Amino acid sequence: MKTPSNLEESGNRCETALAVWLVEAFSKAFGSEADGITLRVQAAADDRFGDFQCNDAMPLARSLKKSPRAIAEAVLAALPAPSYVEKAEIAGPGFINITVKAEWLAAELAAMAAKPLCGIPQSGAGETIILDYSSPNIAKPMHIGHIRSTVIGNALDRMYRALGYKVIADNHLGDWGTQFGVIIMGYRNFLDQAALAADPISELERVYVASYERAREDEAWMDQCRAELVKLQQGDPENRALWESFVELSLGEFERVYRRLGVNFDLHRGESFYNEMLADTVALLEREGLAEESEGALVVRLEDEGLPVCIVRKSDGGYNYATTDIATVRSRVAEFAPGRVIYVTDERQQLHFRQFFTVCAKLGITTQLKHVWFGLMRLPEGTFSTRQGNVIKLEALLDEAVQRARAIIDESDSSMSEVEKSELAAQIGIGAVKYADLSHDPQNMIVFTWDKALALDGNSGPYLQYAHARICSLLDKYSEMVPECEPRSLTMLVEGALERALVLQLLRFPTTVQRAAEACKPSIMADYLFTLCQAYSSFYQQSPVLKADPAVRDSRIALCAYVADILRQGLELLGMAAPPRI
Ligand code: ARG
Repeated sequence: MKTPSNLEESGNRCETALAVWLVEAFSKAFGSEADGITLRVQAAADDRFGDFQCNDAMPLARSLKKSPRAIAEAVLAALPAPSYVEKAEIAGPGFINITVKAEWLAAELAAMAAKPLCGIPQSGAGETIILDYSSPNIAKPMHIGHIRSTVIGNALDRMYRALGYKVIADNHLGDWGTQFGVIIMGYRNFLDQAALAADPISELERVYVASYERAREDEAWMDQCRAELVKLQQGDPENRALWESFVELSLGEFERVYRRLGVNFDLHRGESFYNEMLADTVALLEREGLAEESEGALVVRLEDEGLPVCIVRKSDGGYNYATTDIATVRSRVAEFAPGRVIYVTDERQQLHFRQFFTVCAKLGITTQLKHVWFGLMRLPEGTFSTRQGNVIKLEALLDEAVQRARAIIDESDSSMSEVEKSELAAQIGIGAVKYADLSHDPQNMIVFTWDKALALDGNSGPYLQYAHARICSLLDKYSEMVPECEPRSLTMLVEGALERALVLQLLRFPTTVQRAAEACKPSIMADYLFTLCQAYSSFYQQSPVLKADPAVRDSRIALCAYVADILRQGLELLGMAAPPRI
């Protein structure tokens, strides 16, 4: 019998200590007969029966030819429980339920909180992850459809960094492709200079749409668009300069949104960066015997994998999206030797990723490639779409969120200055939009409503931020009552079921970060924080803090300080602010 690997690094302090004891007890009772099983201690499924449980007597019953209860009894009889165990009992078919002593929980919490990053395990040390997210297209506005990639990608980015990974956040901009011939024609023929100065991306999109529509009806126009594209691809200085100005204008606007969202990239390598590598990539596919001609195009057959063919060179000689992505993987692997490359896009691209991942595997690329896809976001009146008309721009959504948050702040009579109010409105409004997204499993579709996103009493960003601010104000009041006392140095008693539940939830923080990151689901972190706030609020409703007797008061204040610390860190991992005053 063994403990799960790397227990010391797992951040799972209590479970680790208990597992070490039980592994020894199993070995003492059954010697090598218990080998081959990795013992696990986990949070109790029902806190009425204890704090932790171990279910590993069950899988041994068959090989040991004993009932699970008898096995559990023998284990508990084999070795006395460590001094911090209050009781260990057998329940049901053979669960071992464990209740630990309050002082031990208090000491474990203090020890966890004293570690850097509150004990988040450094399981990523030495591994590089490339995170390809946001990746909007040049000369098109960033629509609300892009918000999920940016917000989910950024939360993953923050969690992986906290786990010690070297993260390279790469904004793989859609800055190359056949649409640029169409845009150049639109720009030359339909541009409104004043509109371009006022709102560059919208104007670029307008001329693109106008030119695209013309091309659909007018064959000669289409031919001219193609000719402009060829000129651009061949390095014609005038078209090249136009393209560069499209990229610059678009990036300027994207940057404005990223600044508001608190998102930073390490690289902005658009598709154009890989343009020179496409021919070489296709040549390699041919050399390896992976690509073949089909109706004038060059394709990689993926029948054996149950996938449609992947076109790597079109019949007109142009390369496409998949070719660029294959070349991009090769370039990233050669330059950064990442352990993983993670892509965050909407669900409609699943087939594309499966296809080019398969081609990469055929090329012998062993780097783990992972597509994190998400469902679309809907407003009650319909889908946000990046392609059709009737789009809601991301910036407009953020503006509205901030305005609505401001209205709520103005309603509560507050002594804040104008500057403080507007900063707070941005923190709450943008936090609300992010949380409305992150609190859902990425693969679920979201129906976004303002009422839910901004609710002060439901599973919302403002609810979590407000809980944090209320604890901060409690801590301020405490420091007025008892000046110069550090709450985290006070002795915690951990009395009663509500305090115990709260401490146990706090102790789960480090492993929750790991689980959320490895599953690529920030929603696991969001759920954790919501459960923490609920546990805090049950505790706080039942337990006076400042009015309690000094020893109890001090104990509760210490607990409150830890809740605030973990909430702040958790919100930060989701890319949300934790303002101390609301
Ligand atoms: N630009 C693409 C789009 O907006 C997303 C790119 C995702 N990343 C990638 N390497 N394919 O749909």
